[in-house]
Amino acid sequence: ASILVLNGPNLNLLGVREPAHYGRVTLAAIEQELRTIANAAGHQLDFVQSNAESDLVEAIHQAGRDGVRFIIINPAAFTHTSIALRDALLAVAIPFIEVHLSNIYAREPFRAHSYFSDIAVGVISGLGAKGYALALQAALGRLDQEPT
Ligand code: DQA
Repeated sequence: ASILVLNGPNLNLLGVREPAHYGRVTLAAIEQELRTIANAAGHQLDFVQSNAESDLVEAIHQAGRDGVRFIIINPAAFTHTSIALRDALLAVAIPFIEVHLSNIYAREPFRAHSYFSDIAVGVISGLGAKGYALALQAALGRLDQEPT
């Protein structure tokens, strides 16, 4: 796949989990929308969701071996805790966009710090499920400007 979409803990519960923060759209519906956009642009997407930090680290390493060219990641709660995931992204040096459904700056203070934002290409926070599609459009635009 040319683009990997990574989702962290509890995002498998999208649609039922705290809808006031995260909306009613399921992760399956988000993935379906993204697949449609990517396929129309001639790109392949891979999706990984895990509740385990180690699985996400391994998925990033695998992306490095597979030649994945761009990552869209919602690290979920690991946003605020995981130096290991940050280091994995630095290790593979694959450009990435950080996505959050909720506006992490408008919630508890501990959510305002991200271990990813300063090394991301860009950050989308607070636009709900649409944030993923916007990130994908940005990623596709960048890939089309690069030599393959
Ligand atoms: C989240 C925001 C995080 O603070 C939270 O832990 C999540 C989801 C979001 O998409 O808004 O699980 O990343």
